[in-house]
Amino acid sequence: MSYQNILIATEANIQTITINRPDKLNALNKQTIDELHLALTTAEKNAEVKVIIITGSGQKAFVAGADISEFANFSVEQGKALSADGHKKLFDCVQNITTPVIAAINGFALGGGLELAMSCHIRVASDNAKMGLPEVSLGVIPGYGGTQRLAQLVGKGKAMEMIMTADMISATDALTWGLVNHVVAQDTLVAKCNEIAGKIISKSSVAIASAIRAVNANYTDGVNGFAVEIDEFGKCFGTEDFKEGTTAFLEKRKANFPGK
Ligand code: COA
Repeated sequence: MSYQNILIATEANIQTITINRPDKLNALNKQTIDELHLALTTAEKNAEVKVIIITGSGQKAFVAGADISEFANFSVEQGKALSADGHKKLFDCVQNITTPVIAAINGFALGGGLELAMSCHIRVASDNAKMGLPEVSLGVIPGYGGTQRLAQLVGKGKAMEMIMTADMISATDALTWGLVNHVVAQDTLVAKCNEIAGKIISKSSVAIASAIRAVNANYTDGVNGFAVEIDEFGKCFGTEDFKEGTTAFLEKRKANFPGK
């Protein structure tokens, strides 16, 4: 499939997926969500891709939300289906993918845009970024995981305030609140994400996949995160990466992980 709304570039084991609807501030319409789903599931199967960076086209927006023009006339059933489909195809997909995903937030991250960033494993924002969940201004609530993931990241009180006021917060406040990991000047955003990706790439991809599953387990209903950690920890002992990592340490050399 050729993509119409996203751009994909892979270099040195880092795949950058750019949402490319700049004239609509990269708003997430159905086709873009479908394309992102396909790109992410394809990347996860590609052993050459060790880190994924998701960003938005242009200098103004990461993603300004779900595409309002697509759902303005939806019924109750259609609204519910829109949310469920988005959760499954994109937001849960990003959270649970075992290839690390970094959000490079290069401007407005609003509604579904912030929800997409919050699904990613790591968030880096440029200093011009503005983040918020403005859905109540439209008479709706965040429907792509925002009510859950924002509270997980910034705490219930701040999440309630952001959602109820619909206010946008600055990159600096997002950093203070723990919503993003780093804030950098816009022209160094790509470099900062590549720097983090470079550190991840040098480590065991098998262990990193286990770590993602274990950390996510704490946020999954009915799953005991400690039990998942014990299981994933044990499984590492059967991997080639573990043998290489421990052998390299004992031989006082740098590990060269096979990723198996
Ligand atoms: N869905 C659909 N189109 C969107 C969009 C969205 N979420 N966000 C922006 N756009 C479109 C605008 O309609 C406009 O298209 P047009 O030129 O064909 O009219 C274009 O993107 C540029 O946006 P504009 O509003 O003119 O830019 P701005 O600089 O004046 O304002 C924002 C920027 C982000 C403050 C403003 O676009 C906005 O509030 N967007 C909606 C945010 C939102 O509510 N998101 C949650 C959706 S659930």
